[in-house]
Amino acid sequence: METQSTATVDSSVAKLFSPVQLGPYTLGHRVVMAPLTRMRTVHNNVPTDLMVEYYSQRATKGGYIISEATVVSPNGDGYLGAPAIYTDEQVEGWKKVTSAVHAKGALMFLQLWHVGRQSHSSLQPDGGLPVGPSAIVHDDVAFTANGWVPVTQNRALEIEEIHALVEDFRQGAIRAKAAGFDGVELHGANGYLVDQFLQDGSNQRTDEYGGSIENRVRFMMEVVDAMVSVWGEHRVGVRLGPSGTFGSMSDSNPEALFAYAAEQLNRYDLAYLHIIEPRIDGSILKEEGLQPVAAAQLRKIFKGTIIVAGGFDRASAEAILEKGDADLVAFGRYFLANPDLVKRLKLDLPLNEYDRETFYGGDARGYSDYPFYSHEEAAEANAALPAAV
Ligand SMILES: Cc1cc2nc3c(=O)[nH]c(=O)nc-3n(C[C@H](O)[C@H](O)[C@H](O)COP(=O)(O)O)c2cc1C
Repeated sequence: METQSTATVDSSVAKLFSPVQLGPYTLGHRVVMAPLTRMRTVHNNVPTDLMVEYYSQRATKGGYIISEATVVSPNGDGYLGAPAIYTDEQVEGWKKVTSAVHAKGALMFLQLWHVGRQSHSSLQPDGGLPVGPSAIVHDDVAFTANGWVPVTQNRALEIEEIHALVEDFRQGAIRAKAAGFDGVELHGANGYLVDQFLQDGSNQRTDEYGGSIENRVRFMMEVVDAMVSVWGEHRVGVRLGPSGTFGSMSDSNPEALFAYAAEQLNRYDLAYLHIIEPRIDGSILKEEGLQPVAAAQLRKIFKGTIIVAGGFDRASAEAILEKGDADLVAFGRYFLANPDLVKRLKLDLPLNEYDRETFYGGDARGYSDYPFYSHEEAAEANAALPAAV
């Protein structure tokens, strides 16, 4: 869509549709496409033309898209069909996506990901065990050739393996550059590897990567440092899920942990901190009526730009921006179901419902076939309604 001048924007979304700075980039609006795993690759974790179409549909002039989580190491996959960024072929696939998104005038960062313990041996190189900070029995699922199955219980990483994983993130960052992205975001939330190191329910190491909060934050900081070494601090973002419980996560003192993590991130002038509100468990709202809390807490600590996500709609997105707890708002489920979400939010048009059945894996159905808003169709639908009595 064409962006309109802010003068024409409805005052109820004036903040959402005002420009904002993201690292070195100036965005035309603050509606961000959240990272969304959709598992549409077909072979070798290479992005497909269908993915090019899907992302291109959602790209707007002056908009910002975060890619779905993208695996940095062969042992980092827990979802069959998820894309990766550790081969040249994968880079070539992503190049088509970034070109299409750039052609629409949007920016796109690649979300770098390692699932850690959330995997199954059938997805591991040579059918090995998944890896994580500690070997703790947990009750989660992975998506395999046989559909959703219980995870294979993981083994604990050796110290040298942890160092090698930091290098995998660095290589992923290098390849992201080759693939034409505008920056990289670290997936530090939702119970995957970085989160597994952060929270003490999944990290019982006794070396320098476990125990104290300082030690548990170490892995994240080493990875951020690796990403910054490639991109510079202004083109790196970090996603955290303070008090997140998805993936059997727990921590004995989440407030202290995430406050410390946010404080450590102030060491860099990052593009942003991306915060998932704890009212959302993965992609499920825990209960109706819960208010956002995490962005408000971390706003007091983190000095840079904040993107908030988790259960926002048009009004609550504008409200949190007005309140000043965040600078941009990411939308997940609404963005996957509404290719023209930005336009719909701007003009207060009705939204398509999302179909949970087609979230993960499959083809164009429930992926690139969600309808764009059409005034003609809306008029027809209105005309077909029985007259009010
Ligand atoms: C289908 C689906 C896939 C998701 N995949 C990712 C992902 O790859 N990386 C990530 O950080 N979050 C992922 N999430 C979480 C979303 O980014 C977002 O935090 C969540 O949906 C809450 O936002 P919403 O209420 O606007 O949907 C996913 C959510 C959904 C619904």
